[in-house]
Amino acid sequence: MNKWLKRLGKLLAVMVLAAAGLVAVAWWKTDRDGARTYVVNDPPLTIVRDAAAVALGEHLFKSRGCTGCHGGNGEGHLVFDAGPVFKLVAPNITPGGVARTMSGDQIAAAIRHAVKPDGRSLLFMPSADFKDIGDADTAALVAYLQALPASTNAPGNSEIRPLGRVMYLFGKLPLYPAQSIDHTPRARSAPPVAATVDYGRYVAQGCIGCHGGNFAGQHVPGTPPDFPDAQNLTPANLGAWSNDDFRRALREGKRPDGSAINDFMPWREFSKLSDTEIDALWTYLHSLPPVATPKK
Ligand code: HEC
Ligand code: HEC
Repeated sequence: MNKWLKRLGKLLAVMVLAAAGLVAVAWWKTDRDGARTYVVNDPPLTIVRDAAAVALGEHLFKSRGCTGCHGGNGEGHLVFDAGPVFKLVAPNITPGGVARTMSGDQIAAAIRHAVKPDGRSLLFMPSADFKDIGDADTAALVAYLQALPASTNAPGNSEIRPLGRVMYLFGKLPLYPAQSIDHTPRARSAPPVAATVDYGRYVAQGCIGCHGGNFAGQHVPGTPPDFPDAQNLTPANLGAWSNDDFRRALREGKRPDGSAINDFMPWREFSKLSDTEIDALWTYLHSLPPVATPKK
């Protein structure tokens, strides 16, 4: 055989072996990190189950983004199939689903720590945005979830696909939210509900995972390149908006110029925020120093 062809053949063989080796390492690391366990030892919640607590839980469930993934009644569904990268399925968290055998504190650990009853991290569940939800609010969420009609919906499981594993190996795809959450046991209180900077900061925790820690905007971690960036929410971008413009953005998904905000921004869920909560968010975001959107 021609000696160049032989060399080419060898080169190809080396490349195939290298690719196989890379996938093997990625597979091993994803499984190893997924098997890691975390201890959650927050003070036990006092779960009140009266109508007021369940109504508060329902409001939180429907306005904080949970329904976008878990469905309007917590029955779960396929959220996004990213082909060779991953499949994101939010489970049925009604008493007929995965929460069937979970205690209230275990449900709270799932929400605020992304930790399962066996100590392993949940996949994809955006608990970094929920880690500071106050104890009374969390107890209300638990009371509501446990009072939901038991659904038998079985939406299947999330999957990490081969390309997702390789991306994880290179730090390009966050998979295990429990890794980045501080699990030090603590009690959490919420500021009083009012249109204040303090309460706005509390509600705005739910915007950080997408809009970034200083609200300066970013490409949402783990989303495909063609997904829109989450914009800058500091006065550097929203400085010319009025409180009404902001309300309309969250209630109707429209910018001041009338253009539509992409549905990936969970404005349909945030449209359920009360006027006070939206005004609090606005008061807080307006109080931030203007920060330039980071360059990519
Ligand atoms: C971006 C989508 C998304 C959002 C938003 C979301 N979740 Fe989840 N949640 C998930 C996924 C995915 C899982 C399952 C992860 C797994 O199977 O490892 C999950 C799991 C859970 C579990 C079950 C934990 C277990 O041990 O099986 C509970 C309870 C839960 N979520 C509650 C909530 C609540 C309450 C909210 C709102 C405050 C919320 N989730 C918002 C995606 C989401
Ligand atoms: C799941 C990710 C996600 C979360 C959570 C999220 N956003 Fe967004 N947001 C986006 C994306 C993506 C865009 C850009 C949409 C587009 O380009 O049409 C956006 C756009 C916006 C805009 C329009 C800005 C502009 O200049 O047009 C506002 C206002 C906004 N978000 C506010 C919020 C607030 C307030 C929160 C928290 C209560 C929040 N977002 C939480 C993803 C998110």
